[in-house]
Amino acid sequence: MPDAVDGTAPSGAVRLSTVPSGAAPPAAPQSTGTSLNPADELAAFGASVAGCTKCALAQGRTQVVFGIGDSNADLMFVGEAPGFHEDKQGYPFVGQAGKLLDKLLAGIGLTRDQVYIANVLKCRPPGNRDPHPEEIQACEGHLFRQIELIQPTVVATLGNFATKLLSGKPTGITRVHGAEQPTTLGGRRVLLYPLYHPAAALYTPAMLKVLEEDFRRLPELMGSSLEEPKAASSPLTIVTPEPAVQLGLF
Ligand code: URA
Repeated sequence: MPDAVDGTAPSGAVRLSTVPSGAAPPAAPQSTGTSLNPADELAAFGASVAGCTKCALAQGRTQVVFGIGDSNADLMFVGEAPGFHEDKQGYPFVGQAGKLLDKLLAGIGLTRDQVYIANVLKCRPPGNRDPHPEEIQACEGHLFRQIELIQPTVVATLGNFATKLLSGKPTGITRVHGAEQPTTLGGRRVLLYPLYHPAAALYTPAMLKVLEEDFRRLPELMGSSLEEPKAASSPLTIVTPEPAVQLGLF
């Protein structure tokens, strides 16, 4: 696992238990025989991912940690992977890093119910080790589909793994944090906004300061105009996921 200087979640004790403030993991909506709206489609997709066996992490997990928050959020966060408590509780960012994320959100007048939070991996790597490339590759379609359904305007990546996957570039978080990158995700123009991982910032005051500063730009970025404004009824398009980047390029 890379060290905290790279902004990637350190392993182990940082993912401590707290009670999540959000709703329960998505339950499959009842079929009405008509086409689903994006929120129901996200819930149905979450229910289908709950049985995922695309990689070996399925064998060791308690449950899939799909994501939490507003299915129509303008702002989406993407972390690394569930830890021990996320795996047990079924929600992302329920530990100390999640508490910091909640605090940072409060600082810009938001709660986690107003954003969407997901991870690159939906299942916990044993011992909170780094995600393996084949696990990212197996899981990335789930994340791209979430982005496609939620249609955020800003996607804030937390740490190296999410940043490298969604930027499609190997440049590490230390170089790109706080610099928004217009890109196409889920068939739509979004602003990708790399941030240090809160778990890393918990241990490094200088990094925390930078994370706080970077975080404060989020409202401005959410307000900035993109080429294609969000339209509630716009048709969903098929995602062409960018390939998982090779890791270990810090
Ligand atoms: N909890 C998560 O859900 N993801 C992380 O990346 C770290 C902690």
